[in-house]
Amino acid sequence: MKVVKFNLLLYVAFISCIFIMAAQFTFSSPISKSNRRELRKKHDGPCEAHNSIDKCWRCDPNWAENREKLADCVQGFGHNTTGGKGGEVYVVNDSSDTDLVNPKVGTLRHAVLQPEPLWIIFRSTMTIRLCQELIIAGNKTIDGRGAHVHIAGGAGFMLQFVKNVIISDLHMYDITPGDGGIIRSNSTHFGHRGASDGDAITIFGSSDIWVDHCSFAGTFDGLIDIVARSTDITISNCHFVRHDKALLFGASDIHPDENMRVTIAYNHFGKGLTQRLPAVRWGFVQVVNNDYTHWKSYAIGGAKGATIISQGNRYVAEDGAAKEVTYRKKAPKAEWEKWTWRSEGDLMVNGAFFVNSGNPNWAAEYKGYPLICAEPAERVPELTKFAGAAIGCKVGVPC
Ligand SMILES: *[C@@H]1O[C@H](CO)[C@@H](O)[C@H](O)[C@H]1NC(C)=O
Ligand SMILES: *[C@@H]1O[C@H](CO)[C@@H](O)[C@H](O)[C@H]1NC(C)=O
Ligand SMILES: *[C@@H]1O[C@H](CO)[C@@H](O)[C@H](O)[C@H]1NC(C)=O
Ligand SMILES: *[C@@H]1O[C@H](CO)[C@@H](O)[C@H](O)[C@H]1NC(C)=O
Repeated sequence: MKVVKFNLLLYVAFISCIFIMAAQFTFSSPISKSNRRELRKKHDGPCEAHNSIDKCWRCDPNWAENREKLADCVQGFGHNTTGGKGGEVYVVNDSSDTDLVNPKVGTLRHAVLQPEPLWIIFRSTMTIRLCQELIIAGNKTIDGRGAHVHIAGGAGFMLQFVKNVIISDLHMYDITPGDGGIIRSNSTHFGHRGASDGDAITIFGSSDIWVDHCSFAGTFDGLIDIVARSTDITISNCHFVRHDKALLFGASDIHPDENMRVTIAYNHFGKGLTQRLPAVRWGFVQVVNNDYTHWKSYAIGGAKGATIISQGNRYVAEDGAAKEVTYRKKAPKAEWEKWTWRSEGDLMVNGAFFVNSGNPNWAAEYKGYPLICAEPAERVPELTKFAGAAIGCKVGVPC
């Protein structure tokens, strides 16, 4: 993905070599114990579903027999996503990733390369260290519920020019760049690929994607990148920690992602985050009912006329870190004043503040897919209580 890499490099050109060296130093170790600890969250009580997505499936004691019900629960711009609904269930029983051209039956790589719709589940708790980027075909659900599935210490996921993928209940951390090489990209094609960036999930030229209940920490590059005219994406119920530049949407100045539409709902942005939660260029992003408890330099950033609607979030400024939630990259006021960035019903704690710009009456003119209706920001700690992957679903009991 040379193009992406090049553009990302441009985008971060202002960050000094020292930063890059520090990042390599920090993230070059394989699976760090501290990240595991961070991501482990215990929940053994009765079913508690607090937000509109979780309420749709979590309290059904037969959720494991009725896994495809999850596909009816997505909201926001990713609402058309059905993943592998209607397809066979594929059980991953082998955590290895040794053959990148003809992967073994039972591995995650074999599962995601199949051409037909598949609902992919895991036989047991496992850690998968991907040798190279995992190229995922369309019409797939990767469903980690009921197992503790860790994608860690290796390469990340690549969704390129595909539609319709659900990624649910995975831990992804300490993702490192792959060197590239000969890799199968779909059921009929393999070929040489350049080095991968080290993002946990790259969404490249793809649409109808839903990432729910995943935990992300400490990758080398970004956590989730959305680039190259990707759109119709929902990221919900995820937990983000320990990363410098987590979410980058619309990476290219040259190929503008004007039509990109992304929903960020019910996530928790926690310890050790610095910036880009997300950073958005172009497009339209609704940020709704998320809990922002840590950001060192900014939470929501952007450029190039991005529209950002922030509703019912809780922003808690850290002591000794930036109080401003927002950051406009390299634009004079006369320009960014025209970008519609609106904070509506957000709860601001410990001096946090959001600088509004653009059209205060945007809602009257909005004709797109209906946005998720924000609940009062005071409810955010409850709505996001089970953000992340370790929700402790057990077969046979409500999750
Ligand atoms: C969902 O599907 C409909 C029908 O194909 C389409 O018009 C719409 O653009 C899609 N995406 C969104 C976010 O509504
Ligand atoms: C996984 O399942 C496949 C298909 O049933 C089987 O061929 C393979 O041997 C299994 N692998 C392991 C490691 O159990
Ligand atoms: C995914 O499923 C849809 C609807 O069944 C089908 O039209 C499409 O061709 C499939 N796409 C892929 C990449 O398999
Ligand atoms: C597989 O990948 C090749 C090369 O990118 C592409 O030309 C072909 O259309 C793809 N086939 C499927 C079924 O996606």
